[in-house]
Amino acid sequence: MSNSLFRKKNILSILAEGPDDSHATGLHRVLTVKDLTFFGIAAILGAGSFSSLGFAVFHGGPGVVVLFIITAIACGFTALCYSEFASRIPVAGSAYTYAYASFGELFAWVIGWALIMEYSIGNIYVAYSWSDYFTSLMEKLHVHIPQYLSTSYMEAKHAVENGSSNVEELAAWNTAPVVGSLRIILDLPALIINFLITCLVYRGIKESRNFSNIMVILKMAVVALIILVGGYLVFANGLTANWTPPDDAGVKSFMPNGFSGVMAAVASVFFAYIGFDAVSVLAEESKNPQKDLPKGMILSLVICTVVYILLSLVLTGAVNYRNFDGVGDPLAFIFEKQNLNVGWMQMLVAVCAVIAMTSVLLVFQMGQPRMWMTMSRDGLMPPVFQKIHAKYKTPSFATIVTGLVVGIPILFTDKTFVLDFTSIATLFAFVLVCGGVLLIPAKEKLGGRFHLPYINGQFIFPLIVAVAIFTAWRLSANYFTDMFKLDFSAEPDYISGKKTFMDLATPNVSLIIFWFCAVLLSIFAFIKKFSLIPLMGVITCMYLLTGMTKANWIWFTGWLVLGVIIYFLYGYRKSKLATAP
Ligand code: ALA
Repeated sequence: MSNSLFRKKNILSILAEGPDDSHATGLHRVLTVKDLTFFGIAAILGAGSFSSLGFAVFHGGPGVVVLFIITAIACGFTALCYSEFASRIPVAGSAYTYAYASFGELFAWVIGWALIMEYSIGNIYVAYSWSDYFTSLMEKLHVHIPQYLSTSYMEAKHAVENGSSNVEELAAWNTAPVVGSLRIILDLPALIINFLITCLVYRGIKESRNFSNIMVILKMAVVALIILVGGYLVFANGLTANWTPPDDAGVKSFMPNGFSGVMAAVASVFFAYIGFDAVSVLAEESKNPQKDLPKGMILSLVICTVVYILLSLVLTGAVNYRNFDGVGDPLAFIFEKQNLNVGWMQMLVAVCAVIAMTSVLLVFQMGQPRMWMTMSRDGLMPPVFQKIHAKYKTPSFATIVTGLVVGIPILFTDKTFVLDFTSIATLFAFVLVCGGVLLIPAKEKLGGRFHLPYINGQFIFPLIVAVAIFTAWRLSANYFTDMFKLDFSAEPDYISGKKTFMDLATPNVSLIIFWFCAVLLSIFAFIKKFSLIPLMGVITCMYLLTGMTKANWIWFTGWLVLGVIIYFLYGYRKSKLATAP
C-alpha cells in the first residue's frame, strides 16, 4: 500500500490489469484504422468550423489562417505524444491513463477531472450550436420553434442585461411564459439531441460506428463542396482583395487587427481541433491499437487542418471579415443573398451542419464514459462506473451519467462560457500529456508499433527558445516589459455579466509563466537531452494557453481545486494503489 501523493502505476501493471483482449472488459474489438480516422474526423469537424469559425474570423481577419496553422502544429506534436502513449498503453483511459504512468495518481486524477470539460462540457457547446442550425433549418422548412424554446436562459438574460441588439435573444426573453418570477426559457432541441445521442451510445459501439461513418462521409462531401463553390466564386467575382482588408489606419493587411486580434480567437480555433485525442479512448475497441490508433489520430488531424485552412480562406475571401460580427452560422452566411448569393448552398450547409455536429456529439458522448470506466477500475471513482451492459456491451451506468452531465448544464450555461472552459481544460491536459512523454523511460523498438522518433533537444530546443525571445524583442522592444504592466481592461464575469474581483488589474501572468517555463525547459532539455517532439508539444500548447483570459483562468482554477478536494475525499483512500496489500 502506498500513501504517496505521486504514487504511480507502472506500464506493465496497467497492461496486465487493463484488458488486453476483448473478453476482459466485454467491449467489442471491431475498429480498424479507417474507422478510427473517421472517428477522429467525426470528433474534430463540427461546431468549431460550422459555428465558432465566424467569431474567429471576425477577430483575426484572414490572418486567422496563421492561428489555424500554429494550432495544428501544437496539436500535431500532441498527437505524436498521444500516439507514443497509445502504443505503449493501449487501454481506454487516454490522457488519464498516460498521466498515471508518468506523473502519478494525483496528476492522473487532475487530468481526468479536466477532461470532463473536454468531453462533457465541450458537448454542451456542440449541442447549443446543433440547436442553432437545427432551428434555422426548421425555419427554412417553415416549422417555427419559439425563441424561448431554442435558446439558453443565460444567453437571453445576458442579451437583455448587456443591451444586445440580438433580435432572437430579446424575443426569447420578451415572449417567454412566466411562472412565478421565473421565465421559461430553455434550449429544447439541445436537450433532445443530447437525449437521443445518449440512447445511441448506450445501445452500442457497432451501431454508433456505422452511424458515425455515414455522417463523416456526408459532412466531408459538403465541406468539399463549400470549398469548391465558395473558392470558385471568390475568384470568379474578383473578391480576392478581401484577403488584405484595410486595418483601422487604412493600411491593407492580412491581419487587420494585428497578431493580438488573431490570438483573441485561440479558444474558438483550438476548439475546432479538439477531438483527435478522443480516438485514443477507443483503444479497447480497436483491432490493433498499437498501430492503428496513432495512424487514425494523425490522419484525421492532417485532413482537418487542410480543411480548416481552405475554409478560412474561402470565408475571408467571400465576405469582408468585419461582416462576421455575431454570425453563428458562417458557412451558410457566405452564401446568403447579400454575399455570394447561392440559395441551394445555404440549405445544404444547414443540413450538413446538423449532421456534422451530431457526429461530434456522438464521439464525445462515447469518450466520457470510457474514461470514467478506466478511472473506476483504478478505484478513483465508484465501482458502478465500470458496469458493462450485459447485452449491449457498453459502459451503461457511466453513459447515463454522461447524458446527465451534458444535459443538466444545458439549462444553466451559455455558449461562450462552455467554449472557453473546454479549450482551456483540454490545452492543460495536452501540456501534461506531452510533458508525460518526457518522463517515461526509453523503450526498445518493437516491429509493427508506433515509435515516437527521438530527436535530441539538447541544443535545438534552447536555440528555438532563444530565437523566439530575440524575435519577440525585435518585433516589439517593449514586449517583455509590457508583460509586467498592470492590465486594466475589464472582463465582466461570465455568470453575472457584471464586473467582479476578476477585473482587478494584474500583470500578464500567463505570458510571464510561459516565458519562465520556456527558459526552464531549455535548461532541462540541455541537461537531460530531452526529446524534441514532446518539448515542442509542451511549449506550443503552453503558448496557446497564453491566449486565454483572466476570467477563464480563475474559473478553471476553481474547477481544479474542487477536483483535488474530491480526490482527497474519495480517490486518495479508495484507490487500488492505496488499498492493495
Ligand atoms: N472540434 C469539435 C468541434 O468543432 C469539438 O465541434
